[in-house]
Amino acid sequence: MMKLHALTADIHKIKADSLVKFCSQIDFRKDNFLAGLDKILGGAIGSIFRSGEFEGRLNQSVVIHTGGRISATRLILVGLGAGDNVGTDSYRQAAGTISRLTAIRKSKTLAFLLVDNLNEHHASAIMEGFLLGGFRMTEYKTGDDNEIEQVDTIFIGGESRSHALRLETGFRRGQVIAEGVIIARKMAAHPANVLTPASFANEARALARKYHFTCSVLNEQMIKKERMGLLMAVAQGSFNPPRFVVLKYDGAPRKATRPIVLVGKGVTFDSGGLSLKERLKMVEMKGDMQGGAVVLATIMTIARLKFPLNVVGLIPLVENMPSGRAYRPDDIITSRKGKTVEIISTDAEGRLILADALDYADKFKPQAVIDIATLTGAALYVLGYTAAPVMGNNKKLMDALRAASIASAEKIWEMPIWDEYRNLMKSPLADLKNSGGPPAATITAGAFLENFIGDWPWAHIDIAYVDVEKDGRPYVPRGTSGVGLRLLVELLAGWKIS
Ligand code: BES
Ligand code: MN
Ligand code: ZN
Repeated sequence: MMKLHALTADIHKIKADSLVKFCSQIDFRKDNFLAGLDKILGGAIGSIFRSGEFEGRLNQSVVIHTGGRISATRLILVGLGAGDNVGTDSYRQAAGTISRLTAIRKSKTLAFLLVDNLNEHHASAIMEGFLLGGFRMTEYKTGDDNEIEQVDTIFIGGESRSHALRLETGFRRGQVIAEGVIIARKMAAHPANVLTPASFANEARALARKYHFTCSVLNEQMIKKERMGLLMAVAQGSFNPPRFVVLKYDGAPRKATRPIVLVGKGVTFDSGGLSLKERLKMVEMKGDMQGGAVVLATIMTIARLKFPLNVVGLIPLVENMPSGRAYRPDDIITSRKGKTVEIISTDAEGRLILADALDYADKFKPQAVIDIATLTGAALYVLGYTAAPVMGNNKKLMDALRAASIASAEKIWEMPIWDEYRNLMKSPLADLKNSGGPPAATITAGAFLENFIGDWPWAHIDIAYVDVEKDGRPYVPRGTSGVGLRLLVELLAGWKIS
């Protein structure tokens, strides 16, 4: 448990192993704190700036041992970039950058000097960046690798104590959000021999109990009874039976307020089924449930933050495997909604389970439905590793998502669903087919899903390829990213009940 303490930023009084100062790329003498520190440290700051070792560029950092001239052992300067470009995400990134410094790993107590007119949003971003940047998945390491040293106390040095107390609220919010992202990252990092549909559902139950929302789980018989034919078809090839998780968080002042429904793809492993993936494309398909993990972690997060909304989470959970019982190409399957689907590829399984889940969402008379899924490999050729394609049917919802995307720095961009794409999903034999081939494959997947929505605003977020970070960024270490949680939490934070 990390302790937080709000203080006035007095460099003579703050006792910590490391003192962190965010710096924009300006003449250090214009920053009163740096100018003051320069005097106390005998010109060390000026010397570092003049040498070019540190200029305040975004994510640049330098560690200075203070030799006892202030009560903190070290001073860490971290760059925010040039004035006009400095925004909330600059702080998130800078905090992520320092979280991995050896100097921080050697620190038990840490103090942030937050004297540049910062507000709760900056404070939240700093805590998010710090915790997310320092995250490592250690559960499968044995011995020393399993232990990571951690800062146990953070001092928040504000302009005054009341300013610091306001920032502390932001820090707490940032901590809750980061813990949500970390749950999603961890779940997606667990391999499919550990994280099965049943064990995912158990994890959902445990989190629901701990954070006071409700979780009910449909087992195989109940899913059959619901006539979720598409979900059952995908599941039937696996030894691990499917689950359908229903989460409910009731935070709205009126119980009758129509809920927002979040739907997350929960394929615990996607081998492709009989339309088997080639060997290297199967690697990382343990993460094909990240949309589902994000939905679970989002509901956990808004329950902890006590958002005044009613929100439902739906997570269809299956393993897509080839076997003597597996569904086949050419099979024609009846969906829960009654529409028939001709299977072209058993590897286009995500849209099948989402279709039955979207249809189930109608039960809740939702005010809006948002689904999130690692749905199409083609997303890589739309927006690369940088952003997630989104589609939808409602301008207000899309505008709200765009605003949330800017605020959270989780990038999305809208794709059109036009009739040409809808036509590609028509089958000569059945109502629909499940694959329209390679052209515009990200969009045709969305066009397929659209057939299963009700009379409500809907948006679909395809997180394929942004779900895993391959290089490592300031607050997204290499591995599963948990992308989408901060976007959805931001969306719900700004939700206007219609
Ligand atoms: N889970 C995959 C999509 C995916 C691929 C996510 C790579 C992350 C990284 C999905 O189920 C899939 O296999 N989609 C097919 C659809 C095709 C058969 C129409 C694809 O994208 O190739
Ligand atoms: Mn697939
Ligand atoms: Zn898949």
